[in-house]
Amino acid sequence: MKAGGVMPIFNISDILEPINKILLFITRMKKRKCFYNSVRWRVLILFLTVVLLLLLKLLKVNWILFFHKDIYFVEPFLSASSFVKNRYSHLKKNPQYEINCSSIYDQDPMEIGKSLQIKRKKIIDLEDEDVVEMTSNCQVYRAIRKYHLKTVSPEEEEFPLAYSLVVHKDAIMVERLIHTIYSIQNVYCIHYDQKSSNTFKHALENLAKCFSNIFVASKLEVVEYAYISRLQADLNCLSDLLKSPVPWKYVINLCGQDFPLKSNFELVYELKKLNGGNMLETIRPSSSKKERFTYHYELQKMSYRKMPAKTSISKDPPPHNIEVFVGSAYFVLCRAFVQHILGSSYVQDFLEWSKDTYSPDEHFWATLVRVPGVPGQISREAHDITDLQSKTRLVKWNYLENYLYPPCTGAHLRSVCIYGAAELRWLLNYGHWFANKFDSKVDPILIKCLAEKIAEQQNE
Ligand SMILES: *[C@@H]1O[C@H](CO)[C@@H](O)[C@H](O)[C@H]1NC(C)=O
Repeated sequence: MKAGGVMPIFNISDILEPINKILLFITRMKKRKCFYNSVRWRVLILFLTVVLLLLLKLLKVNWILFFHKDIYFVEPFLSASSFVKNRYSHLKKNPQYEINCSSIYDQDPMEIGKSLQIKRKKIIDLEDEDVVEMTSNCQVYRAIRKYHLKTVSPEEEEFPLAYSLVVHKDAIMVERLIHTIYSIQNVYCIHYDQKSSNTFKHALENLAKCFSNIFVASKLEVVEYAYISRLQADLNCLSDLLKSPVPWKYVINLCGQDFPLKSNFELVYELKKLNGGNMLETIRPSSSKKERFTYHYELQKMSYRKMPAKTSISKDPPPHNIEVFVGSAYFVLCRAFVQHILGSSYVQDFLEWSKDTYSPDEHFWATLVRVPGVPGQISREAHDITDLQSKTRLVKWNYLENYLYPPCTGAHLRSVCIYGAAELRWLLNYGHWFANKFDSKVDPILIKCLAEKIAEQQNE
């Protein structure tokens, strides 16, 4: 038997050879000026092409698999395509691809080198369609992802958490995130964008159906960048989560490019230390940030998306003398605070006032947590809580690299680092609970090793 014991079901040359022969034959015919039956030939060729394309489509073969030599397939054994499964699964047993995550964590040069080589390849990850197929049979899905091996301690059992996941693309990344943060006593709300593809929606609907503690939000928004709809998506989930029978203590919101840095066990330990307080970024706005809510903004169609655009119209100050603080869209909030937010009319007025501001999600929570008397409040006089002081989300900005933290080893997207494998140790030891951004197409090894390390910590 050959390595891995699986042979590709067919070879590219098996298909190309007959086509070549036909083409050669046609050229010869043409040379002999046999043009009288060329219409017949054309029909035949057209027919053969259609058959070939249908065959490839049926086998779910991507063209790139044929023409790109240096391919790294992430989790090929989970692919819905038998072609990919047969062709790429055996590569896993290739020492060149076998990564030891403990060595990555120890920053072993050999292992980091391997991850860098993989990073340079054309990385192909599972498509949304693969996730649809993978989650179509819940029993099989739960078994292959080994959900039954997840342990729960008594401390975790009496301290359930809730999650609000606002996502819009890359079903497999969302699946990996949910798989990593999943614990049976918690509850998970998924809000997908109404603009998302049907396959993406289908994948998440399937996934949610496999667990009694995962559900899709009852009201779904068309989420536009920096617009109130982003905030509304979280509010929809929070409202659903409060109606859930799970007596969760804290709620955490995440997006599809986030990943945890702690296991559920460690997270519960840290959240208990908050003593009912909230954890989020909240700072006094700079004059440029102030413009985001002192002017009226209007949703405008930009080149490829809609975005709120500034007008020259000034806005009234916020209602009820609320002092605006700014921060991030991401939070860790105690249950009593969420109940207060969803049950107070002044909050409704503030939300209404926020509707024509820029990125209201980045001042809504930061402001309300400073309102005197709210559960888990942060006093107005207290110092700023920056993104590095708040443990909710670790984000690496390129202009602070080398000053506040080591440089990014993945790639940059709009000045934010998409982490690479060489940052595994730094991420896990920094002390934050979650981080952004991750992308399997930038560095699949980091995500694999992060998930592995967190599972290890959970079981220890
Ligand atoms: C990974 O490497 C460490 C040494 O760095 C070794 O102890 C461990 O057994 C290796 N794990 C696997 C799965 O090979």
